[in-house]
Amino acid sequence: MDIEYVRSRFIKHFDGTTGSVYASPGRINLIGEHTDYNGGFVFPGAVDKGMIAEIKPNGTDKVRAYSIDLKDYVEFGLNEEDAPKASWARYIFGVCREMIKRGVEVKGFNTAFAGDVPLGAGMSSSAALESTYAYALNDLFGENKIDKFELAKVGQATEHNYCGVNCGIMDQFASVFGKEGQLIRLDCRSLEYQYYPFKPEGYRLVLVDSVVKHELASSAYNKRRQSCENVVAAIQKIHPHVEYLRDCNMEMLGEVKSQVSEEDYMRAEYVIEEIQRVLDVCDALERNDYETVGQKMYETHHGMSKLYEVSCEELDFLNDVAFDCGVTGSRVMGGGFGGCTINLVKNELYETFISTAKERYKEKFGRSPKVYDVVISDGSRKLC
Ligand code: GLA
Repeated sequence: MDIEYVRSRFIKHFDGTTGSVYASPGRINLIGEHTDYNGGFVFPGAVDKGMIAEIKPNGTDKVRAYSIDLKDYVEFGLNEEDAPKASWARYIFGVCREMIKRGVEVKGFNTAFAGDVPLGAGMSSSAALESTYAYALNDLFGENKIDKFELAKVGQATEHNYCGVNCGIMDQFASVFGKEGQLIRLDCRSLEYQYYPFKPEGYRLVLVDSVVKHELASSAYNKRRQSCENVVAAIQKIHPHVEYLRDCNMEMLGEVKSQVSEEDYMRAEYVIEEIQRVLDVCDALERNDYETVGQKMYETHHGMSKLYEVSCEELDFLNDVAFDCGVTGSRVMGGGFGGCTINLVKNELYETFISTAKERYKEKFGRSPKVYDVVISDGSRKLC
């Protein structure tokens, strides 16, 4: 996807003039899934696929937005009651509102945007969109006074308040803070983070997209979060200092076993184990021990499938194929309920794995999975 393409559409759809162009990426996550809203650790990085938007203030109090990919045009005002119906436009509206809430005097603008981060693939196309506009509005109307963390929070609050998803901070954080060649370990409780160069010798990271997107994914996501909060509330009665599942161990979970539902117990068990896995992976990376990294990825998949129950038949199948092919690590990535597996593959196995996965998936489900090589790239930026 290139800037000239977006620019040509912007010129065509508006008054022939040009504006400023901004971009933000989607993300991968090596490990640490559903840990962010539990105050735990995540380990994402930005990718070389994302969103590009051209924006120009238009001197009115209306936003005129054109989605190049959907060929859809929407116009909306900037007051709370002006929320547009189209879901793609609600992301932009939400970002405008959240910036206004933070004191930025957002005025009307014309904008056209396009993206190459696959929708519903678990690579956070929505965070890429939110970060693009948060970054742009800060630059155009806010004198860049809002810091990067707050820009990530603008995207997260947009999801909460305008899109109905009670997500954590990982996706927007990765999109804003991404750095070429580096993964970022974020402590979602203290918000401390650390960049980790990720250029594993002899291995590559590849995403295999099941091309499945389950309905009701956002309500199921919110339900998972609720389960975690239920368990925290029960544990707090015995251990008042506990704020998140991050503060709990399996022993504490055991103490409330009879007071929480079996389902909530399983969810919490997964999260407590997953938070530890991120730390184990960081240690393993420091020793260049990719076998352990891979093993932890398989453990995550198992937990997401059997305890957190956010996998699906197609993703479990892709995970099995990876295992059968001798792939070092493989797991469902992102929120789940469809999307991709992320795979850590030895260079010499790559071709066989990809062709086997394509062939066997097609045989079983009648359609081909998509394959994306991961290139870890920079976060939100102004292009021109
Ligand atoms: C989605 C959410 C994130 C995170 C992941 C699961 O991508 O937006 O905040 O919870 O799911 O790790």
